[in-house]
Amino acid sequence: MNKNLTRRVFVQTAAAGSAALAWLGARQTPAALTAEADKPALLGGTPVHRGGWPQWPQWRETWEPEILKVLRSGQWSRAGGGRQVPDFEAAYAKLLGAKRCLATASGTTALITAMHVMGVDAGDEVIVSPYTFIATYNTILIHKALPVFADTDPATLTMDPASIESRITERTRAIVPVHIYGLPCDMDPINAIAKKHNLAVVEDACQAWLAEYKGRKCGTLSDLGCFSFQNSKHIPSGEGGAITGDREELVDRCQAFHNCGRATGTFQGRGSFSRGSNFRMQHFQAAMLLQQLDKLEMETERRRENADYLNAGLKEIPGIQPLRLPEDSRPVWHLYAFRYDAAQFNGLPRDKFFRAMGAEGIPCGGGYHEQYYDGLLDEAIASRGFQRLFSAPRLKAYRDSFQELKGNKQVCETTVGMSQNLLLADRSDMDHILAAIRKIQAHSAGLAKVA
Ligand SMILES: Cc1ncc(COP(=O)(O)O)c(C=O)c1O
Repeated sequence: MNKNLTRRVFVQTAAAGSAALAWLGARQTPAALTAEADKPALLGGTPVHRGGWPQWPQWRETWEPEILKVLRSGQWSRAGGGRQVPDFEAAYAKLLGAKRCLATASGTTALITAMHVMGVDAGDEVIVSPYTFIATYNTILIHKALPVFADTDPATLTMDPASIESRITERTRAIVPVHIYGLPCDMDPINAIAKKHNLAVVEDACQAWLAEYKGRKCGTLSDLGCFSFQNSKHIPSGEGGAITGDREELVDRCQAFHNCGRATGTFQGRGSFSRGSNFRMQHFQAAMLLQQLDKLEMETERRRENADYLNAGLKEIPGIQPLRLPEDSRPVWHLYAFRYDAAQFNGLPRDKFFRAMGAEGIPCGGGYHEQYYDGLLDEAIASRGFQRLFSAPRLKAYRDSFQELKGNKQVCETTVGMSQNLLLADRSDMDHILAAIRKIQAHSAGLAKVA
Protein backbone atom coordinates (compact mmCIF):
# COMPACT_ATOMS: atom_id res chain seq x y z
CA MET A 1 0.00 0.00 0.00
CA ASN A 2 1.22 3.50 -0.73
CA LYS A 3 2.90 4.99 2.33
CA ASN A 4 1.07 8.25 1.72
CA LEU A 5 -2.30 6.64 1.92
CA THR A 6 -4.00 8.10 4.93
CA ARG A 7 -6.01 6.04 7.38
CA ARG A 8 -9.10 7.93 6.27
CA VAL A 9 -8.57 6.94 2.67
CA PHE A 10 -7.97 3.35 3.74
CA VAL A 11 -11.20 3.33 5.72
CA GLN A 12 -13.01 4.76 2.71
CA THR A 13 -11.42 2.08 0.53
CA ALA A 14 -12.59 -0.61 2.89
CA ALA A 15 -16.05 0.93 2.90
CA ALA A 16 -16.07 0.87 -0.88
CA GLY A 17 -15.12 -2.78 -0.68
CA SER A 18 -18.13 -3.47 1.51
CA ALA A 19 -20.35 -1.61 -0.93
CA ALA A 20 -19.14 -3.96 -3.62
CA LEU A 21 -20.25 -6.94 -1.52
CA ALA A 22 -23.72 -6.51 -2.86
CA TRP A 23 -22.49 -7.72 -6.21
CA LEU A 24 -21.07 -10.96 -4.93
CA GLY A 25 -22.64 -14.39 -4.84
CA ALA A 26 -24.37 -15.39 -1.61
CA ARG A 27 -22.48 -18.65 -1.10
CA GLN A 28 -19.07 -17.11 -0.38
CA THR A 29 -17.95 -16.62 3.21
CA PRO A 30 -17.84 -13.02 4.53
CA ALA A 31 -14.01 -13.15 4.83
CA ALA A 32 -13.63 -14.34 1.25
CA LEU A 33 -16.12 -11.69 0.16
CA THR A 34 -14.17 -8.83 1.74
CA ALA A 35 -10.87 -10.00 0.30
CA GLU A 36 -12.34 -10.40 -3.15
CA ALA A 37 -14.22 -7.11 -3.03
CA ASP A 38 -11.11 -5.25 -1.96
CA LYS A 39 -8.90 -6.81 -4.61
CA PRO A 40 -8.68 -4.78 -7.81
CA ALA A 41 -10.70 -6.34 -10.62
CA LEU A 42 -7.53 -6.38 -12.73
CA LEU A 43 -6.03 -8.75 -10.12
CA GLY A 44 -9.09 -10.99 -10.08
CA GLY A 45 -11.27 -9.06 -7.62
CA THR A 46 -14.85 -7.96 -8.11
CA PRO A 47 -15.49 -4.85 -10.23
CA VAL A 48 -16.80 -1.90 -8.24
CA HIS A 49 -19.26 -0.92 -10.99
CA ARG A 50 -21.23 -3.43 -13.01
CA GLY A 51 -24.30 -1.43 -13.91
CA GLY A 52 -23.19 0.16 -17.20
CA TRP A 53 -23.46 3.90 -17.92
CA PRO A 54 -26.01 6.19 -19.60
CA GLN A 55 -25.88 5.88 -23.38
CA TRP A 56 -25.08 8.83 -25.63
CA PRO A 57 -26.60 10.38 -27.67
CA GLN A 58 -30.16 10.09 -26.41
CA TRP A 59 -33.32 10.89 -28.35
CA ARG A 60 -36.95 11.24 -27.41
CA GLU A 61 -40.02 10.06 -29.29
CA THR A 62 -41.51 13.50 -28.71
CA TRP A 63 -39.01 14.93 -31.20
CA GLU A 64 -40.35 12.86 -34.07
CA PRO A 65 -43.30 15.09 -35.14
CA GLU A 66 -41.01 18.14 -35.55
CA ILE A 67 -38.58 16.16 -37.69
CA LEU A 68 -41.43 14.72 -39.75
CA LYS A 69 -42.76 18.24 -40.22
CA VAL A 70 -39.51 19.22 -41.89
CA LEU A 71 -39.56 16.11 -44.05
CA ARG A 72 -43.10 16.70 -45.21
CA SER A 73 -42.57 20.41 -45.85
CA GLY A 74 -40.05 19.80 -48.62
CA GLN A 75 -38.17 22.84 -47.29
CA TRP A 76 -35.06 21.09 -46.10
CA SER A 77 -32.55 23.87 -46.77
CA ARG A 78 -32.80 27.34 -45.27
CA ALA A 79 -32.06 28.66 -48.75
CA GLY A 80 -35.65 27.70 -49.68
CA GLY A 81 -37.30 29.37 -46.67
CA GLY A 82 -38.51 27.51 -43.58
CA ARG A 83 -38.39 28.42 -39.89
CA GLN A 84 -36.38 25.81 -37.99
CA VAL A 85 -32.87 27.17 -38.58
CA PRO A 86 -33.73 30.84 -37.86
CA ASP A 87 -35.82 29.76 -34.85
CA PHE A 88 -32.90 27.78 -33.46
CA GLU A 89 -30.56 30.73 -34.05
CA ALA A 90 -32.86 33.03 -32.08
CA ALA A 91 -33.30 30.51 -29.25
CA TYR A 92 -29.60 29.71 -28.95
CA ALA A 93 -28.64 33.39 -28.98
CA LYS A 94 -31.17 34.02 -26.19
CA LEU A 95 -29.94 31.06 -24.15
CA LEU A 96 -26.38 32.33 -24.35
CA GLY A 97 -27.14 36.01 -23.95
CA ALA A 98 -25.62 36.78 -27.35
CA LYS A 99 -27.10 39.40 -29.71
CA ARG A 100 -26.78 37.11 -32.70
CA CYS A 101 -26.27 33.48 -33.61
CA LEU A 102 -25.61 31.96 -37.01
CA ALA A 103 -26.14 28.21 -37.41
CA THR A 104 -23.58 26.36 -39.52
CA ALA A 105 -22.99 22.89 -40.91
CA SER A 106 -20.43 22.03 -38.19
CA GLY A 107 -18.06 23.45 -35.61
CA THR A 108 -15.25 23.24 -38.16
CA THR A 109 -17.14 25.37 -40.67
CA ALA A 110 -18.09 27.80 -37.89
CA LEU A 111 -14.39 28.26 -37.09
CA ILE A 112 -13.37 28.57 -40.76
CA THR A 113 -16.02 31.25 -41.21
CA ALA A 114 -15.07 33.14 -38.04
CA MET A 115 -11.36 33.17 -38.96
CA HIS A 116 -12.14 34.52 -42.43
CA VAL A 117 -14.37 37.23 -41.06
CA MET A 118 -11.76 38.25 -38.46
CA GLY A 119 -9.34 38.73 -41.33
CA VAL A 120 -7.10 35.67 -40.99
CA ASP A 121 -5.41 35.39 -44.36
CA ALA A 122 -2.60 33.57 -46.14
CA GLY A 123 0.75 34.20 -44.44
CA ASP A 124 -0.79 35.26 -41.10
CA GLU A 125 -0.17 33.68 -37.72
CA VAL A 126 -2.83 32.74 -35.20
CA ILE A 127 -2.06 32.00 -31.56
CA VAL A 128 -4.00 28.96 -30.45
CA SER A 129 -4.20 26.40 -27.69
CA PRO A 130 -2.41 23.15 -28.61
CA TYR A 131 -4.63 21.15 -26.27
CA THR A 132 -7.68 20.74 -28.49
CA PHE A 133 -9.33 18.64 -31.15
CA ILE A 134 -7.34 18.72 -34.39
CA ALA A 135 -10.07 20.72 -36.17
CA THR A 136 -8.90 23.84 -34.33
CA TYR A 137 -5.45 23.57 -35.96
CA ASN A 138 -6.94 22.70 -39.35
CA THR A 139 -9.28 25.67 -39.51
CA ILE A 140 -6.22 27.95 -39.30
CA LEU A 141 -4.15 25.93 -41.76
CA ILE A 142 -6.99 25.98 -44.28
CA HIS A 143 -6.57 29.77 -44.46
CA LYS A 144 -2.85 29.13 -45.13
CA ALA A 145 -2.05 30.69 -41.78
CA LEU A 146 0.28 29.27 -39.15
CA PRO A 147 -1.20 27.95 -35.88
CA VAL A 148 1.28 29.18 -33.28
CA PHE A 149 0.83 27.38 -29.97
CA ALA A 150 0.59 29.12 -26.64
CA ASP A 151 1.43 26.77 -23.79
CA THR A 152 -1.18 24.95 -21.72
CA ASP A 153 -1.50 25.62 -18.00
CA PRO A 154 -1.25 22.16 -16.43
CA ALA A 155 -3.53 23.18 -13.57
CA THR A 156 -6.41 24.26 -15.86
CA LEU A 157 -5.80 22.43 -19.21
CA THR A 158 -6.48 25.70 -21.02
CA MET A 159 -4.32 28.34 -22.69
CA ASP A 160 -1.84 29.91 -20.27
CA PRO A 161 -2.29 33.67 -20.81
CA ALA A 162 1.28 34.25 -19.58
CA SER A 163 2.62 32.35 -22.61
CA ILE A 164 0.85 34.41 -25.28
CA GLU A 165 2.78 37.66 -25.63
CA SER A 166 6.18 36.11 -26.35
CA ARG A 167 4.61 34.38 -29.37
CA ILE A 168 3.18 37.50 -31.02
CA THR A 169 4.93 38.57 -34.23
CA GLU A 170 4.09 41.25 -36.80
CA ARG A 171 2.13 38.52 -38.65
CA THR A 172 -0.12 37.62 -35.72
CA ARG A 173 -3.74 38.33 -36.51
CA ALA A 174 -5.84 36.52 -33.93
CA ILE A 175 -5.92 34.49 -30.73
CA VAL A 176 -8.03 31.34 -30.49
CA PRO A 177 -8.54 30.20 -26.89
CA VAL A 178 -10.26 26.82 -26.61
CA HIS A 179 -12.64 26.11 -23.72
CA ILE A 180 -11.59 22.49 -23.85
CA TYR A 181 -13.78 19.87 -22.15
CA GLY A 182 -16.09 22.79 -21.34
CA LEU A 183 -13.49 24.36 -19.03
CA PRO A 184 -13.63 28.16 -19.36
CA CYS A 185 -10.36 29.84 -20.36
CA ASP A 186 -9.22 32.78 -18.28
CA MET A 187 -10.57 35.27 -20.82
CA ASP A 188 -9.83 38.60 -19.09
CA PRO A 189 -6.04 38.45 -19.52
CA ILE A 190 -6.42 36.95 -23.02
CA ASN A 191 -8.73 39.77 -24.12
CA ALA A 192 -6.42 42.36 -22.53
CA ILE A 193 -3.43 41.08 -24.52
CA ALA A 194 -5.51 41.02 -27.70
CA LYS A 195 -6.61 44.62 -27.12
CA LYS A 196 -3.06 45.78 -26.45
CA HIS A 197 -1.80 44.24 -29.70
CA ASN A 198 -4.95 44.89 -31.75
CA LEU A 199 -5.68 41.22 -32.34
CA ALA A 200 -9.01 39.48 -32.94
CA VAL A 201 -10.19 36.83 -30.49
CA VAL A 202 -12.28 33.86 -31.62
CA GLU A 203 -13.36 31.45 -28.89
CA ASP A 204 -13.41 27.78 -29.80
CA ALA A 205 -16.39 26.93 -27.61
CA CYS A 206 -17.11 23.74 -29.53
CA GLN A 207 -17.16 21.80 -26.23
CA ALA A 208 -18.50 24.57 -24.01
CA TRP A 209 -22.28 25.01 -24.41
CA LEU A 210 -23.45 26.98 -21.34
CA ALA A 211 -20.02 27.15 -19.68
CA GLU A 212 -19.67 30.47 -17.81
CA TYR A 213 -16.94 32.93 -17.00
CA LYS A 214 -17.65 35.85 -14.68
CA GLY A 215 -21.39 35.62 -15.18
CA ARG A 216 -21.30 35.41 -18.99
CA LYS A 217 -21.46 32.39 -21.26
CA CYS A 218 -18.42 31.09 -23.08
CA GLY A 219 -18.70 31.94 -26.76
CA THR A 220 -19.89 35.47 -25.92
CA LEU A 221 -16.67 36.69 -24.35
CA SER A 222 -14.78 37.77 -27.47
CA ASP A 223 -15.33 38.86 -31.08
CA LEU A 224 -16.96 35.60 -32.13
CA GLY A 225 -17.62 32.23 -30.47
CA CYS A 226 -17.87 28.90 -32.27
CA PHE A 227 -19.85 25.80 -31.24
CA SER A 228 -20.20 22.22 -32.42
CA PHE A 229 -23.35 20.07 -32.33
CA GLN A 230 -21.66 16.95 -33.65
CA ASN A 231 -22.99 13.57 -32.54
CA SER A 232 -20.94 13.24 -29.35
CA LYS A 233 -21.66 16.75 -28.08
CA HIS A 234 -23.97 17.78 -25.22
CA ILE A 235 -26.50 19.09 -27.73
CA PRO A 236 -26.06 16.95 -30.82
CA SER A 237 -27.67 16.95 -34.25
CA GLY A 238 -25.38 14.50 -36.01
CA GLU A 239 -23.40 17.39 -37.47
CA GLY A 240 -23.95 21.08 -36.86
CA GLY A 241 -22.40 24.22 -35.47
CA ALA A 242 -22.98 27.86 -34.61
CA ILE A 243 -21.25 31.21 -34.39
CA THR A 244 -22.29 33.70 -31.74
CA GLY A 245 -21.45 37.38 -31.58
CA ASP A 246 -22.70 40.78 -30.50
CA ARG A 247 -21.61 42.83 -33.51
CA GLU A 248 -24.17 42.89 -36.33
CA GLU A 249 -21.63 43.59 -39.03
CA LEU A 250 -19.45 40.63 -38.03
CA VAL A 251 -22.33 38.16 -37.88
CA ASP A 252 -23.70 39.48 -41.19
CA ARG A 253 -20.30 38.88 -42.73
CA CYS A 254 -20.32 35.35 -41.27
CA GLN A 255 -23.79 34.82 -42.69
CA ALA A 256 -22.64 35.98 -46.13
CA PHE A 257 -19.50 33.82 -46.07
CA HIS A 258 -21.38 30.66 -44.98
CA ASN A 259 -23.99 31.24 -47.72
CA CYS A 260 -21.72 31.17 -50.80
CA GLY A 261 -20.69 34.79 -50.22
CA ARG A 262 -24.17 36.25 -50.83
CA ALA A 263 -24.51 39.87 -49.71
CA THR A 264 -26.36 39.91 -46.35
CA GLY A 265 -27.74 42.71 -44.15
CA THR A 266 -25.05 45.22 -43.30
CA PHE A 267 -22.54 43.30 -45.46
CA GLN A 268 -23.10 44.01 -49.12
CA GLY A 269 -19.54 43.46 -50.35
CA ARG A 270 -18.67 44.89 -53.73
CA GLY A 271 -21.38 43.13 -55.67
CA SER A 272 -23.90 40.36 -55.08
CA PHE A 273 -21.20 37.88 -54.10
CA SER A 274 -17.94 37.94 -52.20
CA ARG A 275 -15.71 35.05 -51.19
CA GLY A 276 -17.58 32.34 -49.34
CA SER A 277 -18.67 28.75 -49.22
CA ASN A 278 -21.74 26.68 -48.47
CA PHE A 279 -21.69 25.96 -44.75
CA ARG A 280 -25.46 26.13 -44.17
CA MET A 281 -27.26 24.08 -41.53
CA GLN A 282 -30.25 22.00 -42.62
CA HIS A 283 -33.69 22.34 -41.04
CA PHE A 284 -33.56 18.71 -39.89
CA GLN A 285 -30.57 19.56 -37.72
CA ALA A 286 -32.22 22.67 -36.32
CA ALA A 287 -35.43 20.73 -35.55
CA MET A 288 -33.37 18.32 -33.45
CA LEU A 289 -31.49 21.10 -31.70
CA LEU A 290 -34.62 23.08 -30.85
CA GLN A 291 -35.95 20.04 -28.96
CA GLN A 292 -32.84 19.80 -26.82
CA LEU A 293 -32.37 23.23 -25.24
CA ASP A 294 -34.21 22.39 -21.99
CA LYS A 295 -32.51 19.01 -21.87
CA LEU A 296 -29.13 20.70 -22.26
CA GLU A 297 -29.82 23.00 -19.31
CA MET A 298 -31.02 20.20 -17.05
CA GLU A 299 -28.19 17.83 -17.94
CA THR A 300 -25.59 20.58 -17.54
CA GLU A 301 -26.69 21.02 -13.92
CA ARG A 302 -26.54 17.31 -13.31
CA ARG A 303 -23.03 17.03 -14.78
CA ARG A 304 -21.93 19.97 -12.64
CA GLU A 305 -23.33 18.48 -9.43
CA ASN A 306 -21.69 15.13 -10.07
CA ALA A 307 -18.38 16.72 -11.12
CA ASP A 308 -18.35 18.87 -7.96
CA TYR A 309 -18.96 15.74 -5.90
CA LEU A 310 -16.12 13.88 -7.65
CA ASN A 311 -13.76 16.85 -7.27
CA ALA A 312 -14.42 16.97 -3.53
CA GLY A 313 -13.78 13.23 -3.18
CA LEU A 314 -10.78 13.04 -5.48
CA LYS A 315 -8.82 15.84 -3.88
CA GLU A 316 -8.48 13.59 -0.81
CA ILE A 317 -6.74 10.85 -2.80
CA PRO A 318 -2.94 11.12 -3.00
CA GLY A 319 -1.76 11.40 -6.61
CA ILE A 320 -5.06 12.74 -7.97
CA GLN A 321 -5.34 16.44 -8.69
CA PRO A 322 -8.72 17.90 -9.65
CA LEU A 323 -8.50 20.80 -12.12
CA ARG A 324 -8.25 24.44 -11.10
CA LEU A 325 -10.89 26.72 -12.59
CA PRO A 326 -10.60 30.45 -13.29
CA GLU A 327 -12.19 32.55 -10.58
CA ASP A 328 -15.96 32.87 -10.89
CA SER A 329 -16.31 30.34 -13.68
CA ARG A 330 -18.57 27.32 -14.26
CA PRO A 331 -17.45 24.49 -16.52
CA VAL A 332 -19.74 22.03 -18.29
CA TRP A 333 -17.45 18.94 -18.33
CA HIS A 334 -17.54 17.56 -21.85
CA LEU A 335 -14.89 15.27 -20.43
CA TYR A 336 -14.61 14.93 -16.67
CA ALA A 337 -10.85 15.32 -16.24
CA PHE A 338 -8.24 15.32 -13.48
CA ARG A 339 -4.45 14.95 -13.34
CA TYR A 340 -2.73 11.72 -12.35
CA ASP A 341 0.64 11.48 -10.64
CA ALA A 342 2.02 7.97 -11.16
CA ALA A 343 4.76 8.57 -8.58
CA GLN A 344 2.12 8.71 -5.86
CA PHE A 345 0.60 5.47 -7.19
CA ASN A 346 3.82 3.50 -6.62
CA GLY A 347 4.89 4.20 -10.20
CA LEU A 348 1.71 2.65 -11.69
CA PRO A 349 1.82 3.97 -15.27
CA ARG A 350 -1.19 5.96 -16.41
CA ASP A 351 -2.04 3.35 -19.09
CA LYS A 352 -2.26 0.68 -16.44
CA PHE A 353 -4.40 2.98 -14.28
CA PHE A 354 -6.80 3.17 -17.26
CA ARG A 355 -6.81 -0.62 -17.54
CA ALA A 356 -7.42 -1.02 -13.82
CA MET A 357 -10.30 1.48 -13.98
CA GLY A 358 -11.75 -0.27 -17.05
CA ALA A 359 -11.64 -3.57 -15.18
CA GLU A 360 -13.58 -1.90 -12.33
CA GLY A 361 -16.28 -1.02 -14.87
CA ILE A 362 -15.26 2.63 -15.28
CA PRO A 363 -14.02 3.57 -18.74
CA CYS A 364 -11.47 6.37 -18.89
CA GLY A 365 -8.63 7.54 -21.11
CA GLY A 366 -5.93 10.12 -21.61
CA GLY A 367 -7.46 12.97 -23.64
CA TYR A 368 -5.32 14.68 -26.28
CA HIS A 369 -1.69 13.86 -27.01
CA GLU A 370 1.10 16.02 -28.45
CA GLN A 371 -0.57 16.22 -31.86
CA TYR A 372 1.90 18.76 -33.25
CA TYR A 373 4.35 15.88 -33.67
CA ASP A 374 1.88 13.76 -35.65
CA GLY A 375 2.84 14.95 -39.12
CA LEU A 376 -0.03 17.32 -39.91
CA LEU A 377 2.08 20.40 -39.31
CA ASP A 378 5.15 18.93 -40.99
CA GLU A 379 3.03 18.23 -44.04
CA ALA A 380 1.61 21.75 -43.99
CA ILE A 381 4.92 23.57 -43.60
CA ALA A 382 6.52 21.42 -46.30
CA SER A 383 3.76 22.37 -48.76
CA ARG A 384 4.39 24.76 -51.66
CA GLY A 385 1.94 27.29 -50.30
CA PHE A 386 3.49 27.57 -46.84
CA GLN A 387 7.00 27.59 -48.30
CA ARG A 388 6.01 30.55 -50.46
CA LEU A 389 4.29 32.38 -47.64
CA PHE A 390 6.84 31.96 -44.81
CA SER A 391 10.62 32.17 -44.80
CA ALA A 392 12.66 29.01 -44.18
CA PRO A 393 14.07 30.37 -40.87
CA ARG A 394 10.53 31.18 -39.67
CA LEU A 395 9.28 27.68 -40.46
CA LYS A 396 12.30 26.11 -38.77
CA ALA A 397 11.86 28.25 -35.65
CA TYR A 398 8.17 27.39 -35.69
CA ARG A 399 8.87 23.64 -35.81
CA ASP A 400 11.51 23.96 -33.06
CA SER A 401 9.12 25.90 -30.84
CA PHE A 402 6.99 22.79 -30.19
CA GLN A 403 9.64 21.73 -27.67
CA GLU A 404 8.84 24.80 -25.59
CA LEU A 405 5.35 23.50 -24.84
CA LYS A 406 6.37 22.04 -21.50
CA GLY A 407 3.02 22.62 -19.79
CA ASN A 408 1.16 21.01 -22.67
CA LYS A 409 3.47 17.98 -22.65
CA GLN A 410 2.79 17.54 -18.94
CA VAL A 411 -0.95 17.80 -19.53
CA CYS A 412 -0.83 15.24 -22.35
CA GLU A 413 1.08 12.80 -20.16
CA THR A 414 -0.86 13.13 -16.92
CA THR A 415 -4.51 13.86 -17.70
CA VAL A 416 -7.23 11.30 -17.08
CA GLY A 417 -10.64 11.88 -18.60
CA MET A 418 -14.06 10.27 -18.47
CA SER A 419 -16.72 10.81 -21.03
CA GLN A 420 -19.52 13.25 -20.12
CA ASN A 421 -22.25 10.61 -20.12
CA LEU A 422 -20.78 9.11 -16.93
CA LEU A 423 -21.70 12.35 -15.18
CA LEU A 424 -25.36 11.78 -16.06
CA ALA A 425 -25.47 8.69 -13.85
CA ASP A 426 -26.65 8.58 -10.22
CA ARG A 427 -24.76 9.80 -7.18
CA SER A 428 -24.18 6.16 -6.15
CA ASP A 429 -22.38 5.65 -9.48
CA MET A 430 -20.10 8.60 -8.63
CA ASP A 431 -19.34 6.76 -5.39
CA HIS A 432 -18.26 3.81 -7.52
CA ILE A 433 -15.82 6.03 -9.43
CA LEU A 434 -14.33 7.27 -6.17
CA ALA A 435 -14.24 3.78 -4.70
CA ALA A 436 -12.47 2.39 -7.77
CA ILE A 437 -9.78 5.06 -7.64
CA ARG A 438 -9.27 4.56 -3.91
CA LYS A 439 -9.02 0.82 -4.45
CA ILE A 440 -6.45 1.26 -7.23
CA GLN A 441 -4.50 3.68 -5.04
CA ALA A 442 -4.53 1.21 -2.14
CA HIS A 443 -3.30 -1.62 -4.39
CA SER A 444 -1.10 0.42 -6.70
CA ALA A 445 2.10 -1.39 -5.68
CA GLY A 446 0.61 -4.76 -6.59
CA LEU A 447 -0.95 -3.43 -9.79
CA ALA A 448 2.34 -1.87 -10.84
CA LYS A 449 3.90 -5.36 -10.81
CA VAL A 450 1.41 -7.06 -13.16
CA ALA A 451 2.11 -7.11 -16.88
C1 LIG B 1 -12.56 21.84 -29.54
C2 LIG B 1 -13.20 21.53 -30.85
N1 LIG B 1 -13.02 22.37 -31.88
C3 LIG B 1 -13.60 22.15 -33.07
C4 LIG B 1 -14.39 21.04 -33.29
C5 LIG B 1 -14.98 20.81 -34.63
O1 LIG B 1 -16.37 20.64 -34.59
P1 LIG B 1 -17.12 19.70 -35.64
O2 LIG B 1 -16.76 18.29 -35.36
O3 LIG B 1 -18.57 20.00 -35.40
O4 LIG B 1 -16.69 20.12 -37.00
C6 LIG B 1 -14.62 20.15 -32.26
C7 LIG B 1 -15.47 18.97 -32.44
O5 LIG B 1 -15.21 17.88 -32.04
C8 LIG B 1 -14.00 20.39 -31.00
O6 LIG B 1 -14.17 19.54 -29.98
